[in-house]
Amino acid sequence: DTDSQNTLEVYGPLFLRGTATTIGVAFVCVIVGTLLGVFVAMLRLSSNKFINTIAFFYIQVLRGTPALLQVFIFYFGLSSILTIPAIHVWDINLARLIPGCIALAINSSAYVAEIIRSGINAVDSGQMEAGYSLGLNRRITMKEIILPQATRNILPALGNEFVSMIKETSLLSVIAVSELMFVADTVKAATYRTMESLFIAAIIYFMITWLVSWLVSLLEKRLEKSAKV
Ligand code: ARG
Repeated sequence: DTDSQNTLEVYGPLFLRGTATTIGVAFVCVIVGTLLGVFVAMLRLSSNKFINTIAFFYIQVLRGTPALLQVFIFYFGLSSILTIPAIHVWDINLARLIPGCIALAINSSAYVAEIIRSGINAVDSGQMEAGYSLGLNRRITMKEIILPQATRNILPALGNEFVSMIKETSLLSVIAVSELMFVADTVKAATYRTMESLFIAAIIYFMITWLVSWLVSLLEKRLEKSAKV
């Protein structure tokens, strides 16, 4: 009927934009989170007790408190110490998007740091000894022997982190960043079509995470093949 046609015309584009925002925000957060996470993992693996204790607490605090709470803390915290002008980019208020992205990227960095640390630790310690016995120093052994093997553990796990972040971005709906969850909530309130709105969001989230998981499994197979000489 025409009524549902109009509904689709009006709300279809909203869902599409929300979807694009969700993917974009998750992507940016994983990239920034990975850069930060590599740095934190290096601190965590440092032989300096003080430095690795700081990294340890950084990781524990971020993983030990709800990501939702971190989003609120960064949003209200940042807006109380500095004024981010309410500039809109593609209709998204930067004063909300920036603190939200910072919170999620920092949250992700703790998980990424653990992914990298466990990826490196999963490489048999005999490999380090093998490097030493060839007369290589710690740095070279790490770079030439350990890291190439650790990469096979780390890359798929980073792909899965992207899947997690696709879902975690829904938290930004609480600070009114118009990603997919926020759009679903808005449409639900405007149309009273509660279950339809929520299920459309669910289906879109599922299609994205399904696709990315599938790509990760392809990557995993390729890495496995390249490991067998
Ligand atoms: N949603 C959970 C929380 O509130 C897990 C967050 C997972 N985050 C991540 N970057 N993998 O803490």
